[in-house]
Amino acid sequence: MTEVVQVSGATAVFGNVKAVDGLSLSIGRGEIMGFLGTNGAGKTTTIKMILGLLKPTAGEVSVMGGDPSLPETRRRVGYMPEMAYYYPYLNARELLSFYGGLCGMDGRTVRARTDELLDAVGLADAAKRPLKTYSKGMLQRAGVAQALLSDPELLVLDEPFTGLDPLARIRFRELMRSLRERGKTIFFSSHELGETELLCDRVAIMKKGRCIYHGPVRELAGDGDMNLERLFLKTLEESK
Ligand SMILES: Nc1ncnc2c1ncn2[C@@H]1O[C@H](COP(=O)(O)OP(=O)(O)OP(=O)(O)O)[C@@H](O)[C@H]1O
Ligand SMILES: [Mg+2]
Repeated sequence: MTEVVQVSGATAVFGNVKAVDGLSLSIGRGEIMGFLGTNGAGKTTTIKMILGLLKPTAGEVSVMGGDPSLPETRRRVGYMPEMAYYYPYLNARELLSFYGGLCGMDGRTVRARTDELLDAVGLADAAKRPLKTYSKGMLQRAGVAQALLSDPELLVLDEPFTGLDPLARIRFRELMRSLRERGKTIFFSSHELGETELLCDRVAIMKKGRCIYHGPVRELAGDGDMNLERLFLKTLEESK
């Protein structure tokens, strides 16, 4: 399998906090990988290194064979942050148009993609309302649409399920699966173990900056009956 993301011994230090500690991780093309772990375990920090927004203190991160901070790499990556701070007076359509411009996309493509994506995330009816009037889940949906705008090869989502209602979750899951069928690679962090189990080919579990499990959801089970919650608890317990 071609590795789309290769993290090798990456460490991120903030003052005297080692947020990520010698992490090695690989994500293959066409794979959906879930990124799990306790609060403060280093997931968002790792995501920032994969996006080239944060340089590792030690170790290396390569994305599609290149430096993740290079513009040519970034153009091929879509990102939805944990907490998005969008301009509150823009509506969803204007938001996508703004991001399309940032990505260097032409206006006609942005408009076509905007219609398609607002429909896909269920925001078509709210597209002309300013974002400051959106509910939490609606903002989350706008974030998904923004991340998908440039039809990126790699999609990195920091807690995409937070705030989504059950119907939006089902729709989102189907959307992610259809992207995988088109050969896209998806890496997302989550605390939603049920959703992660339904969607992922593999998971990585973080604890205190270290990866304590990296593999298929069912591998540890042996009995073929392990759900992700049991795997998660067992792995955390064994890593004490
Ligand atoms: N800019 C920063 N300055 C100082 N410490 C930071 C900074 N960013 C993260 N940290 C610390 O690094 C550690 C990992 O944080 P990170 O945000 O990566 O965790 P996380 O796994 O995403 O947690 P959560 O599930 O709560 O989102 C935490 O101890 C956090 O306090
Ligand atoms: Mg986080």
